[in-house]
Formats: sequence, structure tokens, C-alpha cells
Amino acid sequence: MKDREIEKLIKAESERQKNVVNLIASENYVSQDVLTALGSQLTNKYAEGYPGKRYYGGQSVVDKIEDLCKSRALKLFKLAPKNWHVNVQPLSGSPANVAVYVALVSPHGKIMGMSLDQGGHLTHGHKVSITGKFWNQVPYGVDKNTEVIDYDELKKLALENRPNIIVAGFTSYPRIVDFKKFRDIADACGAYLMVDMSHFAGLVAGDVYPSPFKYADVVTTTVHKTLRGPRSAMIFVKKDARDLPKLIDKAVFPGMQGGPHLNQIAAVAVALKEADTPAFKKYAERVVKNARSLAGELKSLGWKIISGGTDSHLVLIDTWMGGKGLSGKEASDRLEKAGIIVNKNTIPYETRSPFDPSGIRVGTAAETTRGAKEKEMIAIARKIDKILRKK
Ligand SMILES: Cc1ncc(COP(=O)(O)O)c(C=O)c1O
Repeated sequence: MKDREIEKLIKAESERQKNVVNLIASENYVSQDVLTALGSQLTNKYAEGYPGKRYYGGQSVVDKIEDLCKSRALKLFKLAPKNWHVNVQPLSGSPANVAVYVALVSPHGKIMGMSLDQGGHLTHGHKVSITGKFWNQVPYGVDKNTEVIDYDELKKLALENRPNIIVAGFTSYPRIVDFKKFRDIADACGAYLMVDMSHFAGLVAGDVYPSPFKYADVVTTTVHKTLRGPRSAMIFVKKDARDLPKLIDKAVFPGMQGGPHLNQIAAVAVALKEADTPAFKKYAERVVKNARSLAGELKSLGWKIISGGTDSHLVLIDTWMGGKGLSGKEASDRLEKAGIIVNKNTIPYETRSPFDPSGIRVGTAAETTRGAKEKEMIAIARKIDKILRKK
């Protein structure tokens, strides 16, 4: 690069990534092919609109790229094009979720989403997000004792509040979600069902987590977590009598965004092809096995694992343990000094501030990409224990 300053910083970040144990549950390491697509000449092209219906000339190549990306997305999740539509233009997960609400919920309508401190995402209607300012959140959570979703409570809440849309999905909930129960509840109160599978999309693609497509009206996902693609997002929409695909496409462009990032869309297409392989299926299986090993070892060393374990790639650890342990911030700072990168996280029924909460969240997607297996997970768990236990 001619720009030495930026070149040096990119190299420094690349070295940092190589030299740490990365347990950030929402990160992963993409392939060289994904990086090549991201850094390609496609970044030079403007393409407002959709394939075949653009506002600029010169679209003969990029139309093919966007169409290929869409067909790979449907194929990966075993969706027939006659039943499902996909929009691959959202720039990231948050704008994808906002676009769905723009399309399906009137201003000040009700979004029923998991609250942030119990495992939901900001864009599931939290008040600091635009989704909590333009719409009203009906928050739900987990049962205080089991720390898993109580579907009877959920149904009661939905019938009392009659939300316009129910969001199933999470950012720090380690368990399998029962999408059929969510569907039944959405039907009982006349709401749309949106599944935000950002965290577990790679696990669905690898057949190690239930697929939400049989039950949802809309499925959103980021591409950069377990799915191991570039930073980007997709919205899948069921084709039925309500013409939802048209509403979603209009909400993304021109509703929310301008020109799509074709370099990003090409990189998504690359990642989707990589995920549609037996090797990726093995990877997804390994991600979950690794998370179970990590959680199991930490539990046997005396740490409190929220909900008692995990069915996915993520594990939520109560490091505070009622004052006997460490706050989440201190735990994450200590681990970072020792080269283990995690994020501090609230735990259900949090009693501390979100800036210094009671827990940490760890995930196995990134280290599994680098080849970690059970043996390494157990060694990491023991190292975490040693670092956090030190007075
Ligand atoms: C469940 C969920 N949805 C949406 C998002 C938002 O994605 P982005 O950071 O790409 O906007 C995240 C990010 O962590 C997430 O966990």
C-alpha cells in the first residue's frame, strides 16, 4: 500500500487477531476468497435498485452477482424460490431489522422482543435504539429459575399486549428456541413472526440448530457471525397472499438505503457457497461440541453457567456469583491481559450496570475456524478459571 500509516495499522490488527484466543461470540475469521471479493473493483459500482430494475447504467455484471447471491442464499437454507424471497442488500444486521419493522409495523406499533439484559439485541425494540423510539417494545425474558424462555408466560404477555410483530432471536441466549411455539403464539395474537437468526445462522446452515423457516414470516440474519461471511445481512421473506417481499424490498431500497455494496454482496455469495459444503457442516457440529466442552469444564470448575449449559456456539458465564467472584468488566479486562478476548455481558435479572455487569459471554465460532477442538477448549476453560480465580 502507498498509505503506510493505514498499512501498518492493518498489519497490527492482523497480528493481534493471530495472537489472541478469540472468544467473541459474534466474530469469526473469513476466508481469503471472501477478503478478495470485499477488496475488489465491485466497490466502484453504483447500483441503486434491484437486478433488472436499476437507476444507473452498466449493470450487466453486478446484476448477475446479486442474482447469484440470492439463489445461493435460498439454496443454503433449503428454500424453494416459489415460496421464499431474499433481499441481500442490507448493509448490516441492525438496518435489516429496522427495514422489517419499516415494512410491517406502523409507527408506534408494538414489537415484542427479548429485552437486552435477558439476551435480546438492541434492535429488538430497546429504548436506546431507533427501534424503541419509533416503535414500542413489549419486552419478554427468561424464567428466573431455569433461565430459559417460559412459553406460557410469553403467550400470556402476547395476548395481553397484542404486538404487531414478535421477534424470536437473541444475542446472548445459549439455548435452542422453539419456533413452533413462537408461531402458535404469533397466530394467537395476530402478529407477524420474525426470527433474527444472526447468531445461529451458521448452525442452521450446518443442520445443528433447528431451522426457523417452517414457522417464520420473515427471517433476518447477519452474515458475519457463525455463518463466517463478511459484515452484511440478509432478509428472507415468505411469499404468500400478503405480498411481503414487495414491502420488504421497498423498505430496504428506497426506504432505508441507497446503493447496495456490490463488493459486500459478492463476498456474501462466496461465503454462502463455502457454507454449502460437507466441511462447513462438520465445522458447525464442532462449534457446538466445543461450546459444550467449554461450558462443561467451566461448570465443573465451579463457575455458574447461565441456563446450565448451551445448545449453540455461545456460553454465558456469571462471573460475579453474588459477589463471590468478579464483575464482568474486571473479568474481561483480566482475560484480555492474558490474551483471551471475551465481552462483558449482562445476565438475566441483572443487578449491576450494563457497563460493569455480572457476566461474560464467550463463543466458539472463531476459535473453531482456527482448528480448536475439545482438548483446546478444556485448556482454555482451565486458563480462564486460573485467571479469574486469582485474588
Ligand atoms: C441478534 C442480532 N441481531 C442483529 C445484530 C446487529 O448486527 P450489526 O452489528 O451487523 O448491525 C446483532 C449484532 O450483534 C445481533 O446479535
